[in-house]
Amino acid sequence: MTAKRPWNLPERCVTPESAYLNRRSLLAGATGAAAATLLPPVSRARAEADPSAGLYTAPLNGRFADAGRAVTPEAINTSYNNFYEFGTSKDIAAAAEALQVRPWTIAIDGLVETPRTLGIDDLLKSVTLEERIYRHRCVEAWSMVAPWTGFPLRALVEQAKPLASATYLRFETFMDPEMAPGQKPSLFGGGLPWPYVEGLTVAEATNELAFVVTGAYGKPVAKSMGAPIRIHLPWKYGFKSIKSIVKITFTDQRPASFWEQLQASEYGFWANVNPDVPHPRWSQATERVLGSDERIPTVIFNGYGEWVAHLYKGLENERLWA
Ligand code: MTE
Repeated sequence: MTAKRPWNLPERCVTPESAYLNRRSLLAGATGAAAATLLPPVSRARAEADPSAGLYTAPLNGRFADAGRAVTPEAINTSYNNFYEFGTSKDIAAAAEALQVRPWTIAIDGLVETPRTLGIDDLLKSVTLEERIYRHRCVEAWSMVAPWTGFPLRALVEQAKPLASATYLRFETFMDPEMAPGQKPSLFGGGLPWPYVEGLTVAEATNELAFVVTGAYGKPVAKSMGAPIRIHLPWKYGFKSIKSIVKITFTDQRPASFWEQLQASEYGFWANVNPDVPHPRWSQATERVLGSDERIPTVIFNGYGEWVAHLYKGLENERLWA
């Protein structure tokens, strides 16, 4: 997300949606030998049985049933992604099919009563899944609306039984350069601080809005969107919503995130959405709605202030907005 580094492709932020989608439909429409050379063999991987498939769909939570805008078509949401482990463009969906989502474990460690490792399917059995329609605002000034399925992050925090001394959660994505070539130092990953790390305060993580995502569009979440388990924090810029999580550490130290390590002047810890605080290189006043040619005004906390504004009282001296 920075233009100063060799691995960065700034044009991806400005490609008009229509041009991007035209290219996708051209690819989808390609036939015969041409298609064989253009499209990687992803259909076989997609056919893999997912043991959690029967858990979807889940009941819609009435408090988050309407995002005030149309849900973004699934085909866009699953094919226009930021997932740097699989490439620096938005077009990583085919590469992300290499993500092996079973077996999958999540280690819970640090300042907790008993550190342990949870298998994803055991975790899924221990929670109540629900659907929520959330707005998602990327720091690059585009947005979409996703119908997530998952459970409140608060439920996972309660299961973890943190010690009173724990004030932060540090999340970590898998590290496997063979599976995810973006992590190879020899490719564009050179110099990137893998694995992807993000952090939240315990107060943020236990807010009603903070959501663990395991599904989307009524089925297990697509690999390109961070299967098999990610979080979504709709009041923060999208980079806080870490994908494909393998470890959650409770700590009393503020975690340094992937983007903060890379470019602290542009990407900080809090990263709450605010139209009045520009990114150092572009305005945050408006956002491009994926799937349309519309640009709409951005709203503070992405419109979720009634849930979260109180979390930041007394923290006005912090860099809350970037
Ligand atoms: N998590 C990991 N592990 N790797 C990433 O590159 N990108 C982040 C976030 N989580 C990212 C990640 C960014 S910049 C955004 S905007 C969102 O994922 C994008 O989520 P989406 O592809 O489902 O829209």
